[in-house]
Amino acid sequence: MNLELENDERLLRRALELAAQGAGQVSPSPLVGCVIADARGEVVGEGFYLYEQIKHAETLALEQAGARARGATAYVSLEPHAHQGRTPPCTTALIEAGIQRVVAPIEDANPLVAGRGFAHLRAAGIEVQTGLLAREAARLNEKYIHAQRHARPFVHLKLATSLDGRIATRTGDARWITGPQARARVHRLRHEYDAILVGAGTVAADDPLLTDRSGLPRRRPLVRIVLDDRLTLTPQMQLAETARTTPVIVFTNAQADARAAVALTDCGVEVVRLPKGARDLNAVLAHLYRRELQSVLVEGGATVAGRFLDAAFVNKISFFIAPLIIGGSDAPPAVAGTGAQLVADATRLRDVEITQHEEDVEITGYPKKQRSEARG
Ligand SMILES: NC(=O)c1ccc[n+]([C@@H]2O[C@H](COP(=O)([O-])OP(=O)(O)OC[C@H]3O[C@@H](n4cnc5c(N)ncnc54)[C@H](OP(=O)(O)O)[C@@H]3O)[C@@H](O)[C@H]2O)c1
Repeated sequence: MNLELENDERLLRRALELAAQGAGQVSPSPLVGCVIADARGEVVGEGFYLYEQIKHAETLALEQAGARARGATAYVSLEPHAHQGRTPPCTTALIEAGIQRVVAPIEDANPLVAGRGFAHLRAAGIEVQTGLLAREAARLNEKYIHAQRHARPFVHLKLATSLDGRIATRTGDARWITGPQARARVHRLRHEYDAILVGAGTVAADDPLLTDRSGLPRRRPLVRIVLDDRLTLTPQMQLAETARTTPVIVFTNAQADARAAVALTDCGVEVVRLPKGARDLNAVLAHLYRRELQSVLVEGGATVAGRFLDAAFVNKISFFIAPLIIGGSDAPPAVAGTGAQLVADATRLRDVEITQHEEDVEITGYPKKQRSEARG
């Protein structure tokens, strides 16, 4: 690798690293990091975006660099924006500061920005280089990119299973299949998401709290969602009891019991009636997108997991597999629904990562089959 490329890669990696520090604090905006380096490759400014601080990564890095930005290179994790949003265009700031070259891996997926930022910079005589670490940059902002392209949230299915693929015993007991380290990892995963979703069966069996207990800062509370056509969630359950501090949305159908709905709304739960009920996942996801929820972690149970997979709405999957065997033909499998007829039709993962958490194994990857219809 030549020296310039080596430098570019090192500095761009740093910009991606900085961007990642905004996790949990940028949605519905993207994660953005910026490094400004002089001709010798020495860093003169750094910044990353946090929604509340308003200033963009490029502005923060330029402020740090001051006059040393003149003739320097800006490494940005995503195409700088050229439109007036909550802040003036970052492209203008880069041009006015005298930046000579911009290295940014990918275009912004936001139609207001896509390609325009690069075009604005090039028109001002700035050398723009794209493509380097494009895969890593797209992965970093996978939730944002998906939501922008498809007008619905990015869906990550997470389940904890036994070696024999069960998510609970025949009595419905599911605590705890995995150990403390895997469960701590799940809280870090929750921290990356805007919402968490489960079915009525899981609420009835586990009375879960479904909060982000990672201890990491987040801009908005994790929104807890229940798919519940018969409104079985009661005011005595933990979700309802905590709804005033951490939001809960229950999706149900038009016929669901009015008294049960009032009892829940009195606790601060938001009841959303959909014409075709909670079974209409398209409508559920469209509703969440309109609420600026860019990503959803689906935590089961088997019925919900099956429906999401059958409908090809799942964008990412993590199974945490524990070395125990539950057994029993009545113990729920990880995934119900219709499933595949042939192994060749099964949901196979790509880009698989395997991580060990004490004795448990996490397998994370991306299903090859995903819905990909265009925005509309
Ligand atoms: N190990 C794990 O990771 C894990 C995670 C979660 C749960 N669990 C275990 O799994 C068991 C519960 O699984 P489950 O399959 O019985 O329940 P579930 O998938 O949590 O909930 C299914 C129920 O949700 C309602 N629902 C509404 N809209 C739906 C939609 N679009 N898709 C699917 N369901 C929809 C339906 O009930 P209505 O018709 O009443 O609306 C349906 O019967 C429990 O024993 C729990 O402990 C384990």
